[in-house]
Amino acid sequence: MATTNVPTSFDSILNEERVFPPPKGFSRLAQIKSLAQYRKLYRESVQSPEKFWSRQAKAELVWFKPWTRTLKWEEPYSKWFIGGQLNVSYNCLDRHLGTARANKAALIWEGEPAAPGKPGEERILTYKQLHYEVCRFANVLKRNGIKPGDRVLIYLPMVPEAAISMLACARIGAVHSVVFGGFSAQSVADRIQDSQAKLVITADGGFRRGAVVPLKQNVDDALVLKDSHGELLTKTIEKVIVLRRTNNEVQFQEGRDLWWHSEVEKVDAHCPAEKMDSEAPLFILYTSGSTGKPKGILHTTGGYLLYAKLTSKYVFDLRDEDVYWCTADVGWVTGHSYVVYGPLANGATSLMYEGAPNFPEPDRFWRIVEKYGVTILYTAPTAIRTFMKWGVEWPQKHDLSSLRLLGTVGEPINPEAWMWYNEFIGGKRCPIVDTWWQTETGGILISPLPGATPTKPGSATLPFFGIVPEVVDDYGRPVPRNSGGKLVIRKPWPGMLRGLWGDPQRYQQVYWGEVEGSYFTGDGSRQDKDGYFWIVGRIDDVLNVAGHRIGTAEVESALVSHQKVAEAAVVGRPDAMKGQALVAFVTVKSGVHADAALREELRLHVAKEIGPVAKPDDIRFAEMLPKTRSGKIMRRLLKQIASGTEIKGDTTTLEDLGVLARLTQVEE
Ligand code: WTA
Repeated sequence: MATTNVPTSFDSILNEERVFPPPKGFSRLAQIKSLAQYRKLYRESVQSPEKFWSRQAKAELVWFKPWTRTLKWEEPYSKWFIGGQLNVSYNCLDRHLGTARANKAALIWEGEPAAPGKPGEERILTYKQLHYEVCRFANVLKRNGIKPGDRVLIYLPMVPEAAISMLACARIGAVHSVVFGGFSAQSVADRIQDSQAKLVITADGGFRRGAVVPLKQNVDDALVLKDSHGELLTKTIEKVIVLRRTNNEVQFQEGRDLWWHSEVEKVDAHCPAEKMDSEAPLFILYTSGSTGKPKGILHTTGGYLLYAKLTSKYVFDLRDEDVYWCTADVGWVTGHSYVVYGPLANGATSLMYEGAPNFPEPDRFWRIVEKYGVTILYTAPTAIRTFMKWGVEWPQKHDLSSLRLLGTVGEPINPEAWMWYNEFIGGKRCPIVDTWWQTETGGILISPLPGATPTKPGSATLPFFGIVPEVVDDYGRPVPRNSGGKLVIRKPWPGMLRGLWGDPQRYQQVYWGEVEGSYFTGDGSRQDKDGYFWIVGRIDDVLNVAGHRIGTAEVESALVSHQKVAEAAVVGRPDAMKGQALVAFVTVKSGVHADAALREELRLHVAKEIGPVAKPDDIRFAEMLPKTRSGKIMRRLLKQIASGTEIKGDTTTLEDLGVLARLTQVEE
């Protein structure tokens, strides 16, 4: 039986025939110079994985104590480099200090600009300076009672202190959980409750398009939120460290709240890196799943760092003279692996930008590329489509000739956007690496290697070393080439998640219960005749809105928590700019007037419950939702209604056929 629920919204990629071989000049200087070289290493990596990874771990990382066993695999748990000890911050900082990289820029930071034509604030931290700041802040954490294994929640804007906080946690063995600055007080509280964090690092505010996002206020609100029994949600927070960034007024609670700048005055910069077990937790990062509660993805030390380092080195073909810019926020996994850990472990220069791509003007990115001579740019398809809409005049105002490599991540890239990126940003000379991966995978799993892999617009191409992906049917059997199916990974890899924080059952069920003996990605895919992977997107109830993962169940539960809402169902519809848009079907309680004002009220309510990223694009009021006789909402029908396509498929199980007719007539 063929899998039937794989979406085909990217019909255009089915007919994509264009192939772009790596430019000769690029291959000559690249780490991996040919497809043959890639295939040889790949073969070794999957035939003798332990030998391969053991060699890489020795060559790439500094260990305080060697491991005794490379891999222990007891499905669904893997352990890598057992018995080995190392420190992530040592591998990202200290190891470069005795070398020519000591005074090289580790982080280049560009702040949000004040006005058109004005440059943003700028800060550059060399490896030495970053090491100094990390050591001091690590001592601040220690002074405030943080011990190895304690959880620390980081809720900061895109400023160097975000990276400093992460590295400081890693230095002393604390486990960080970064929460994206666009999430709400409620989301902060939920994550504190789930991770039992002891300390929060935040800022007075963050700048976003000239406005101030009140981060400290959100933390204050989070810390007084109560559950349905009137119990405080968060009981574990002992200290809140506040960075001064926007200078807005904030409330301080005596004994709990501390200024970053005063605390660092109280400590010195001597802070030896803690010797951490290879499998010690490094961070928890929450991501949406197909039920209401976000999942705390757990990553550990040795395997994660090795995987982030090696993928950065080969996929971005990092060289010492590169200025590498990944535009992701550190609140997402891309910011963890490819703004902070991967690049710094390689001794690269990583650029961080605080603001929005169109503030104050739509050429903001291109101004930055020109100003710093960015050589590698890694961004999201949704951003590229937006740049296309704004027009080529914006990139054309700037000299982009420093660029040598482009990358994308977060969702499938449509060939039109790929071609535009290639021509107008890359000047037809830069390879494009379309990198497929997930919060769970720790690093890139499927991607071209830019000097080796011929690319095809819309395909993430071939697996990275050690990765064995396969496209299978509902019974877990491989499907023939060019057929759609579920994307699974057959073998463990060092960067894989080590489970869900505090929820082993859900981990087993969501990732290992779907296809026997394999990690289920939740994505649908197809392999073409050359073995290239074409990812078509999620096949579970998770949407990808502008590259952000949003669980429909999460938005539904936010909607029904509003007093005027009786029931809600959330589905996706294709959107030219964002990939997918969120459409909510809502039935209100009797006596409630469903009007435009309520629609806005509900949108704001979702923003308050989850964050602005989860605001529904459309809210449609309905007197009833289409349900089966057993009471299950028929999302398949709602999806078709939301995207305005003809209702297809079986409707005989529908309880009340009239509901459909009424829903399709909803005026917008
Ligand atoms: C999607 C982001 C197609 C996919 C790193 C995946 C992609 C989810 C690509 C993970 C790509 C990411 N092509 N789809 N190159 N990259 N995705 O956890 O559906 O935020 O499962 O990690 O994004 O999103 P997450």
